[in-house]
Amino acid sequence: MVSKIAAHKIDCVVGARPNFVKIAPILRALRSRAGLSPRLIHTGQHYDATMNAVFFDELEIPDPDLNLEVGSGTGTEQTARIMLKLEPVLASRKPDLVVVVGDVNSTMAAALVAAKLNIPIAHVEAGLRSFDRAMPEEINRLVTDRLAQRLYLTERSAMKNLVKEGVDEEAIKFVGNVMIDTVYACLPRAVPARATLLDYLSRSHAAKEAIEHGFAYVTLHRPSNVDDPERLRSLIGTLVQISQKICLVWPVHPRTAAMIESVGLERRLGEGRIVSTAPLGYLRALGLMREAKFAITDSGGVQEETTALGVPCLTVRENTERPVTVEQGTNLVVGTSAAALVAAVDDILATGGKAGRVPALWDGKAAERIVEDICEFLGMKSVG
Ligand code: UD1
Repeated sequence: MVSKIAAHKIDCVVGARPNFVKIAPILRALRSRAGLSPRLIHTGQHYDATMNAVFFDELEIPDPDLNLEVGSGTGTEQTARIMLKLEPVLASRKPDLVVVVGDVNSTMAAALVAAKLNIPIAHVEAGLRSFDRAMPEEINRLVTDRLAQRLYLTERSAMKNLVKEGVDEEAIKFVGNVMIDTVYACLPRAVPARATLLDYLSRSHAAKEAIEHGFAYVTLHRPSNVDDPERLRSLIGTLVQISQKICLVWPVHPRTAAMIESVGLERRLGEGRIVSTAPLGYLRALGLMREAKFAITDSGGVQEETTALGVPCLTVRENTERPVTVEQGTNLVVGTSAAALVAAVDDILATGGKAGRVPALWDGKAAERIVEDICEFLGMKSVG
């Protein structure tokens, strides 16, 4: 009988929208390597078609091998449910490695379960720090990095953070940005902004103007911006004011939509030249971002994607865990004051905004570097 060397088992765990964008190129690279047997586990943190299925379709991610269907809840509830459901799943397959990406609750929960089962963890997008522990993602980043055996960096600043926290330099590798791998892979298929806006002609009086005169792209979903009714009311007032200068196109996250409805802000929103839409698929969002005059956001991903696309970005937060987007890219952290945001918009409308450059290793090949390193970590021979 010919003996066959068993493939190395790798479990990739994802749960929320930005995870899907990051895992797509990694899974592709894992599946193209002989000797690896990857499995995809979806925690079910994001479940709406607009937050979930459309991303699997457009990014050509294979159906998950397993869906834990944990759904919504507080961060603690989500984490606990994921842990309870994931433990038997990992314990029975005993993978050689668990791969987690980003900083969502699913990322940390999966890392905790793997660590308790003594399974090595690779964390993609390690070492980013906002130094703001009021942000749920910061806790997820700190815990996940503490537990990981391989830490893959999108930017060099993260190395300093990890070394300061006592992580062994040997475990850290600067590989570039898988989210940008996906941007480059999908740009040829991005939906032109005009095509998306045409769909909203009958629903929004601003859609025609946005097509004819250009627009800014808006996303907002951080608890610090949308969970407090007064903060959200003031932010929407500022957006209405900005929309007198330039039309806004705003795909509204379910968390934000729920707050807008419960506070009764729909009418106020309707007073501006704002095309508000349900969450959009990746190819439509990418098309809008590429053609926008600038973006207003509190998302981590949009800060990076706009830097890769050369589109100015105004980040409505007091800090960013992605400093390279400010130091080299097109991002400006404007804080949370309305006056500062309006002044920054005026500046972009007058000058065109920051040009920036694309950071090192944001070249579309980060996933290949990660898989090369994983193979080395697992003791496999290099592809040569
Ligand atoms: C999560 C991530 C955040 C990421 C964002 C991208 C954490 C701590 N946060 O935030 O880092 O930037 O995803 O979207 O993990 N909901 C739906 N349908 C869904 C999913 C959520 O309606 O498919 C609603 C629910 O009311 C839910 C709320 O959105 O309670 C928030 O969802 P949750 O997964 O808790 O966090 P996000 O705000 O999406």
